[in-house]
Amino acid sequence: MNTEHLTDVPREREPNEANVRALVEAFYRRVDDDPLLGPIFSRALIGRWDEHLAKMTTFWSSLVLGSKQYRGNVQEAHRPIDDIEPRHFARWLSLFLNMVESRYEPAAAVQFMEPALRIAQSLQLSRFGWDYQIPAEQQALLAALKRQRTGDAPEPRFPERPDAEPFPAKFIGKSADEK
Ligand code: HEM
Repeated sequence: MNTEHLTDVPREREPNEANVRALVEAFYRRVDDDPLLGPIFSRALIGRWDEHLAKMTTFWSSLVLGSKQYRGNVQEAHRPIDDIEPRHFARWLSLFLNMVESRYEPAAAVQFMEPALRIAQSLQLSRFGWDYQIPAEQQALLAALKRQRTGDAPEPRFPERPDAEPFPAKFIGKSADEK
């Protein structure tokens, strides 16, 4: 895996407007390069990438900075994208969680990870049906992050990354290189 995008930025202690924008831009560059996700996004966003990046910056700022400026409906926005399969969620989460982990200190990173996993889960259930089994490792990661955010757990500690193994791969069961 090309890890250059994961290692060349020093970790931030706190989210702020500038680093949220930088995160969004780096994440969607990575998504666009991804053989599995890239085509879905380029089909949906022809001529609208700039608008998407601005919207996603507002979305994440609303969540982590409390800016409350995002006006949209996340479920509705995904409904027309008819070629989304379970493996696309695994890949999206793998890329996003790795990207966040590489750019933020753990206490800041969990502020992005918990809503990402929560919203992914609701998108998966509405897309694949309410009896769809969310992958067990994904559920376990969300539960652990919730405990950390509600203060029921000490300062977040992420698992060690022997041999630079991508952080969430063991939780969501797919490495970023798998299709
Ligand atoms: C399989 C995984 C996913 C795929 C393929 C995907 C794809 C897309 C695409 C193509 C759009 C642009 C829609 C358009 O403007 O026409 C979009 C919008 C968006 N996505 Fe996702 N997405 C995924 C997962 C997620 C997750 C987990 C989140 C939550 C953190 C998320 C949050 C959003 C938001 C906030 C928008 C903008 C909604 C709006 O228009 O107001 N997506 N997504």
